[in-house]
Amino acid sequence: MIVKEQVWEALKHLEDPVYRRNIMELHLIRDVMIKENRVSLTALLTIDHENRRAELQQEITKAVKAIGAEEVHIRFRAISEYERGEVAKQLEDAQAVREQGKPNSSVLDPEAGVEFIAVASGKGGVGKSTVTVNLAVALARQGKKVGIIDADIYGFSVPDMMGIETRPVLDGDRIIPVERFGVKVISMGFFVEDNAPIIWRGPMLGKMLRNFFAEVEWGDVEYILLDLPPGTGDVALDVHSMIPQSKEIIVTTPHATAAFVAARAGAMALRTEHEILGVVENMAYYECGSCGTKEYVFGRGGGGKLAESLHTELLAQIPLGAPDNPLTDPEFAPSIYKSDTATGQIYDQLAQRIIN
Ligand SMILES: Nc1ncnc2c1ncn2[C@@H]1O[C@H](COP(=O)(O)OP(=O)(O)OP(=O)(O)O)[C@@H](O)[C@H]1O
Ligand SMILES: [Mg+2]
Repeated sequence: MIVKEQVWEALKHLEDPVYRRNIMELHLIRDVMIKENRVSLTALLTIDHENRRAELQQEITKAVKAIGAEEVHIRFRAISEYERGEVAKQLEDAQAVREQGKPNSSVLDPEAGVEFIAVASGKGGVGKSTVTVNLAVALARQGKKVGIIDADIYGFSVPDMMGIETRPVLDGDRIIPVERFGVKVISMGFFVEDNAPIIWRGPMLGKMLRNFFAEVEWGDVEYILLDLPPGTGDVALDVHSMIPQSKEIIVTTPHATAAFVAARAGAMALRTEHEILGVVENMAYYECGSCGTKEYVFGRGGGGKLAESLHTELLAQIPLGAPDNPLTDPEFAPSIYKSDTATGQIYDQLAQRIIN
């Protein structure tokens, strides 16, 4: 059985004739799918010409068959202007790192002026990762320079949620984060083969987190959002001690017990003297599409009560509903609400409140 990472690895030696970099690094191979040793993928053409198409067809087929694929199906399409922009941006970042030599010592240095916001919750599955990625994208839409650290080392989900299919580029010993929707992203998921479960413990985790600060080239970010693992475990504590200046957003669902559990995360933030920016109540209500009535399917008032008990504000109430993004969109991301949707606007307002 072939896995995606093998395909990525196999295609790494193919160079793009325009950018003179390998096509994986340039994010020109997308939608890799494998079914019973049949591999299908999309290849973006920087030169939309039949000769290039034929050449690439041959190169990719050869490379993928060499790792055991029986059939290779390639969909070609020309790279869009937007995607060209993304490639240019990534190359620029890599270039800047080279020119600056040893780059900015650490984003952790309070002098660097980076605003850290950790997104925490008392229990799992309430939407921390969803809130993190959407708040980050909304901040970027407002022109802010934003990064995400997916600090959920066991249960990383940010790359999938944002529809990221590439890996970070290495520049010497620096890791260049992957950029998506204007947000720089780093996740344990980038360094794990084939979704293998992580079984490291204690000190290894802290070390990994430290690397995310020390070895990743963040450039001139203004905000770094941290998607924390659920609860008040080791990693959350590591984050607290590593970034004492971090502020915090607590996510809860509207149910009273969820809010009660979330209060523990809040209490920990207070104990470690992290400033709590406020509470986000996720899955707050379901709004009926045709009649507009709000139904409070998961209860009501949990977010408000939690905010009250933590002496902070209820920053946003996000309704139930998955983003309705068409799979055919080259900008597809399963969990990002576009700015022209009702939920996207709620995130835009949340971003505005954070900025203020
Ligand atoms: N407002 C919403 N409406 C509908 N589905 C949602 C909403 N917010 C999150 N979800 C879905 O709920 C699930 C859990 O969300 P998410 O992964 O963001 O939670 P989490 O708190 O990060 O979970 P974990 O503790 O496992 O890291 C996901 O499948 C997500 O797509
Ligand atoms: Mg999560």
